[in-house]
Amino acid sequence: MRLSCTASDTNLRVRCSSKLVSLAVLGSVNWDINLFIDRFAEVGAEVSVKQILEVPGGKGGNVAVAAARILGSKQAAVIGGLGRDELAQVQIKILKQEGVETSGLKRMSEVISGRAYIVIDRNGGKMIHTLFKANLRLNPDDIEDPHISRLIKQAQIIVIIDPKKETIIRASEMSKSLGKTVIFSPATRCSEGLKELGEAIRNSDYIVVNRFELKCLTGKEKIVDAKNALLEINPDVKIIATLGKKGAVMMHKHGQNKIQGVDPSRFGLKVVNTTGCGDAFLGVFCASKIQGYSDEESARRGNLAGAVKATRQETRGSLTAEELESYLKMLQQ
Ligand SMILES: Nc1ncnc2c1ncn2[C@@H]1O[C@H](COP(=O)(O)OP(=O)(O)OP(=O)(O)O)[C@@H](O)[C@H]1O
Ligand SMILES: [Mg+2]
Repeated sequence: MRLSCTASDTNLRVRCSSKLVSLAVLGSVNWDINLFIDRFAEVGAEVSVKQILEVPGGKGGNVAVAAARILGSKQAAVIGGLGRDELAQVQIKILKQEGVETSGLKRMSEVISGRAYIVIDRNGGKMIHTLFKANLRLNPDDIEDPHISRLIKQAQIIVIIDPKKETIIRASEMSKSLGKTVIFSPATRCSEGLKELGEAIRNSDYIVVNRFELKCLTGKEKIVDAKNALLEINPDVKIIATLGKKGAVMMHKHGQNKIQGVDPSRFGLKVVNTTGCGDAFLGVFCASKIQGYSDEESARRGNLAGAVKATRQETRGSLTAEELESYLKMLQQ
């Protein structure tokens, strides 16, 4: 194997110390402005905000950070767009502190960095409103940029999330032609639909979506119909649908596999904010695959990371490698 990884504990399979990144994540970097309220307002009504919390977020940054906390420094890279504003400087500093490789972030002076305005109710449910701005300025040609293509060439796994459609397609083509494992998690881009995203679906090894995105992407109400619509485009793709507290289901041409969710009350924890649970799931799923775990075990670890994230107020509330192992041990007791 190309990676140079050492076991620091009998249960900690690997900590990678290769100079090459193992994971490249194409996706948004946003500043999250979280409003905690009791219950969502009806249209035309006013509710009071209990707390405001500003934290780093954006699916690209979140997934890269979740993976970096497991794999170690400089193993995960984020590829995306930022402005030349103060927010961008703060974002880059935080990502670097997390050990994420940031050389794939394109900086632009004519546009502001992305922000998300998130409302969270007392059950931890969320409504996310995103101003993508610089995130949508990463163009297909930027994928050929030496800094960005170098990261894609180095990585084992490429995660493509929510750049604009043309960039998604170019990145998926390049990654596929290089023989990389391609994970496509279209998030808000699901609204483009199957036809527009067909090429990216064909180039993917895995599609990772939540239950709302699966329906939005395929136009199908039932999970089985959605699965069939995706398999019609790419018979070999594996589809992972995350199901909130119910966990996840993995579907492929041979059938499907349910991976049970974890109830945080088992650890004496309470759900406070489910924003970023899917990103924690995906980052830990990718890190676990890179460490050599099976799809099922990687999804089991992803579920655990997603469940613990739900109990943390911040968006990037995923687990470190040490925390993950200790929670896994608690699950076995
Ligand atoms: N309330 C919960 N209790 C336990 N686990 C949860 C809960 N919510 C989410 N999870 C875990 O996190 C994973 C992802 O959750 P979900 O399907 O809600 O993602 P999402 O809506 O895409 O989140 P994101 O805000 O990151 O986009 C689930 O598969 C599950 O493992
Ligand atoms: Mg999600």
